[in-house]
Amino acid sequence: MTPRLIVMSNRVNVPTARDEGAAGGLAMALTSALREYKGIWFGWSGQTSERFTGQVQLDRINGVTSATVDLQTDDYEEYYAGYANRTLWPLFHYRVDLVDYDRDFDTGYRRVNRRLARTVDPFIEPDDLIWVHDYHMIPIAAELKALGRRNAMGFFLHVPWPPRQLFVTLPNHRQLAEALFAYDLIGFQTHEWLEAFIDYVVHDAGAVLGENGTITCFGRTVRAAAYPIGIDAQEFTAMAESEAGRTAHDMLVSSARDRKLIIGADRLDYSKGIEARFAAYEALLEAHEDLHRQVVCVQIAPPSREDVNTYQRIRETLDSLAGRINGRFSDVDWTPMRYVNRGYSRQALAGFFRASRVGLVTPLRDGMNLVAKEYVAAQDPEDPGVLILSRFAGASEQLGDALLVNPFSTDDLADAMQRALTMPLAERKRRNSAMRAVIDRENVAWWRDRFVTDLTALRDATHA
Ligand code: G6P
Repeated sequence: MTPRLIVMSNRVNVPTARDEGAAGGLAMALTSALREYKGIWFGWSGQTSERFTGQVQLDRINGVTSATVDLQTDDYEEYYAGYANRTLWPLFHYRVDLVDYDRDFDTGYRRVNRRLARTVDPFIEPDDLIWVHDYHMIPIAAELKALGRRNAMGFFLHVPWPPRQLFVTLPNHRQLAEALFAYDLIGFQTHEWLEAFIDYVVHDAGAVLGENGTITCFGRTVRAAAYPIGIDAQEFTAMAESEAGRTAHDMLVSSARDRKLIIGADRLDYSKGIEARFAAYEALLEAHEDLHRQVVCVQIAPPSREDVNTYQRIRETLDSLAGRINGRFSDVDWTPMRYVNRGYSRQALAGFFRASRVGLVTPLRDGMNLVAKEYVAAQDPEDPGVLILSRFAGASEQLGDALLVNPFSTDDLADAMQRALTMPLAERKRRNSAMRAVIDRENVAWWRDRFVTDLTALRDATHA
């Protein structure tokens, strides 16, 4: 019998039929998991109220049942804007310089996780698999166990796990790591993050490694493995070829005239390396006068987490960099840089990616990065564009046929842009088809089924 899933994540974003569009890759992946296995997607409604009521809003959209709750205003401040986005996010992306350690954040994080566990508890049936996602909700399994739940529980981390030398800067690092040992299965995006986790628990918490990925620590044995998340590549290709995709493609191509397009599309976040990308584009234009009027760089960057001050700062920096590049190089009939602070539907993005000779995915650190995979999926196999991919994105473990770059080096990144713009068709085709094979094979269904199969096996082994 197929198991029923209780999926938990901070954001619950079921794509609707009318606009399959606004949802990101994570939302598409979880939607696909819930369609296959049935169950409930539980999390925050995105709304706040003065007091936490625990009142659940049930919706059924596109075959997926979602259950969401509002957060109390100070819960939002301490748990989401605080511990999740000012502490764990920068720490897990190696930015200890940007981390705020505040005891109130820590307390709020634990309080909200307890509240969320109590709220979801009545929806759980004894055979359900519980699958918790991302850094916002690490303590959920421990909280559910305290309520007496004995279900099989899995956790998947969408972001990197930091090196232990950085992780120990978190004041309650042991407590957070111990909370992970309440799960039965812990999934990471890549082997690199899995190894960093093992390195920490072995050296700082006395863990003992067993067979088949098992780790014993804090009196419990769990399994940990890498499960790189994928996309529905065929669906994304179909979006590029859909009417809306083609309209977006044609609009961008005609607005650029015959110029080659370089495209980036990221949430406006300091981990994405957008600043480094702008600097490299400026260096490219400085070094190659022959490229003037021949290229246009499009950066799509919808604002994100705007009430956190580091996000306000990165926005100001990028505004001024984009302005400087255009001020330096523009002519009355050519603007080298189009910097757009808004989001687009997935069909439009697919069309934009297909129209662009170069796809820039250059995060300084990223758990996976699904834009890299979407760019590959959107290409015309007969005339594909070139993916420039940071070696510090999890996706680089699978996409070795991209032009891999170190985004900390402006010169290297500028060279890669120049190489991508002039790459012969045969090489572009070879690289694209090699990457296409990977994203087709290691797609979202592969990711979901590997995790659910492993969690089911652990449940059956315990109950046998
Ligand atoms: C990353 C995280 C997700 C998060 C998303 C959007 O991809 O891994 O958990 O939902 O960013 O960020 P936001 O703070 O808007 O939910």
